[in-house]
Amino acid sequence: MEKIKVHDKIFRLAIKNEDIESSIDKVAAKLNAEYRGCEQPPILLCILNGAMVFTASLMQRLDFQVLLACMKVSSYEGTSSSGTIVTKIKPTADLTGHRVIICEDIVDTGTTIRFLRGNLLTMGAKDVKVCCMMFKPESLHHQLLLEGLTTAESTEEEVKKFHPEFYAMSIPNDFIVGYGLDYNELGRQYKDIYILDE
Ligand code: IMP
Ligand code: MG
Repeated sequence: MEKIKVHDKIFRLAIKNEDIESSIDKVAAKLNAEYRGCEQPPILLCILNGAMVFTASLMQRLDFQVLLACMKVSSYEGTSSSGTIVTKIKPTADLTGHRVIICEDIVDTGTTIRFLRGNLLTMGAKDVKVCCMMFKPESLHHQLLLEGLTTAESTEEEVKKFHPEFYAMSIPNDFIVGYGLDYNELGRQYKDIYILDE
């Protein structure tokens, strides 16, 4: 399908399934290189609901022993985007002493993963890294500007919290649906990725 309608909006085909799949092959190879030979199986932490499809695809390509857990967070729902993140479902496994790989559908401003990193370390995770399917670097940069993290005084450590260590694809600052990603909870089921058609 070249175009789809989700709620009131029209989206057009942007990234074909075969291209998504081959980008997942590549990011999985990077994870394999990083975690292969790990003494204790790391936990792949799927961030519900958006990352379900990506997590399933990614997991099947991993050649090291891995545990699976889920967690759900949501951005504060209000008229102003305060960037406040709320935990809706706590991690379904005990993270204590484990290396954790956060599996996200998309890193947009980076505020969700920054929140998650701090949160999971407090829960006792040994080490936390992020693997996302889609990454919007322009949006992340804009967020760093807003947070005053682009000045010479900004510590590299603070800036790094917003960045995914691994990502399958980077995209411009556009709104997308499909492959797990939604527009107001619909549009997750498509195999391809669609972009808002304006
Ligand atoms: P961040 O905290 O701004 O990085 O936002 C991350 C979350 O916003 C993702 O987990 C998605 O749920 C949502 N999101 C950001 N961009 C898109 C998009 O283009 N389509 C669908 N959801 C998105
Ligand atoms: Mg999400």
